[in-house]
Amino acid sequence: MLQDNFGRRFRYLRLSITDVCNFTCNYCLPDGYQCDTPRDFLRVDEIKRLVTTFAALGTTKIRLTGGEPSLRKELPEIIKLCKQTPGIESVAITTNGYKLTTQIQSWVDAGLDAMNVSIDSLDPRMFHSITGHDKFDEVMTGIDMALALGMKTVKVNAVLMRQFNEPEFQGYLDWVKDKPITLRFIELMKTGDNVRFFEDNHISGESLKEKIIDQGWQRVIREKDAGPAQEFTHPDHIGKIGLIMPYSKDFCSSCNRLRVSALGKLHLCLFSEYGLDLRDHLQEDDPEALANQIRYLLGDKEATHYLHEGLTGGTKHLAMLGG
Ligand code: 5AD
Ligand code: SF4
Repeated sequence: MLQDNFGRRFRYLRLSITDVCNFTCNYCLPDGYQCDTPRDFLRVDEIKRLVTTFAALGTTKIRLTGGEPSLRKELPEIIKLCKQTPGIESVAITTNGYKLTTQIQSWVDAGLDAMNVSIDSLDPRMFHSITGHDKFDEVMTGIDMALALGMKTVKVNAVLMRQFNEPEFQGYLDWVKDKPITLRFIELMKTGDNVRFFEDNHISGESLKEKIIDQGWQRVIREKDAGPAQEFTHPDHIGKIGLIMPYSKDFCSSCNRLRVSALGKLHLCLFSEYGLDLRDHLQEDDPEALANQIRYLLGDKEATHYLHEGLTGGTKHLAMLGG
């Protein structure tokens, strides 16, 4: 079992399989993905070695992220190999949803268990202005298809921003009245590229928490291995609410995840200054050496990010590492 110097255990790996994204979300890639040089993303055989070794070290859950992971044509193959790896119990994806209607069936067939989709507005025009794509109806149809295919865990992520979708807060709460999904408000995070935007748009997660508690939402008791999201239920709602508040005290104490970038770098934190290279080991067939390297590198994981102090770490935008 992977454990750090602060007693935190890591059974959950977030693996980015590309940092390319076709959306231009205003808080993330407002000018679009900059493809200066062709990128040499982890090949399927390298992903297989990585996942097998993490599973041997106790990882039970893999989330595939990007950029936008569905831009990798091998995605169904990657889902399948993760799912077939002994020890991996759950395979999830985080997607912007733009290929859901055409691809969800193949992901489910490959063994996908859970999916997080970003929907930053319930108004098609606002959705277009935030993401740069007029895809609201299609993404919503894709979510309904996933539910109809029996996917048990569907979560929707929304980043509320003062100058854009803040007035939709109540509409979002009403929306999950009869939708069997968890809607998660992710507090806007300051990254290297969005400093000004952050100042203009940040809304504290604590203020949202007060509002939902006033409306009768109740905190769900945390499960042992639960991550930093706080979850709430309401007697009149089928759906749940999750709050991800990276600026709140103690956010990092329940950290349960490690990240690997699409170039094979281990990131001990979303906001680390840099990733730690695993690629040499991924190109050799020596699982023991790879496992030792991961164990060794984990010794450097710090107790917290330093976001409270205004720092952003080396993360220019979250497409670099899939959030
Ligand atoms: N702050 C908060 N959330 C962000 N995401 C991307 N960039 C940011 C940011 N700066 C979210 C996306 C997606 C998830 C992976 O991370 O909206 O839902
Ligand atoms: Fe939007 Fe995610 Fe793409 Fe960033 S990586 S532009 S948040 S869809």
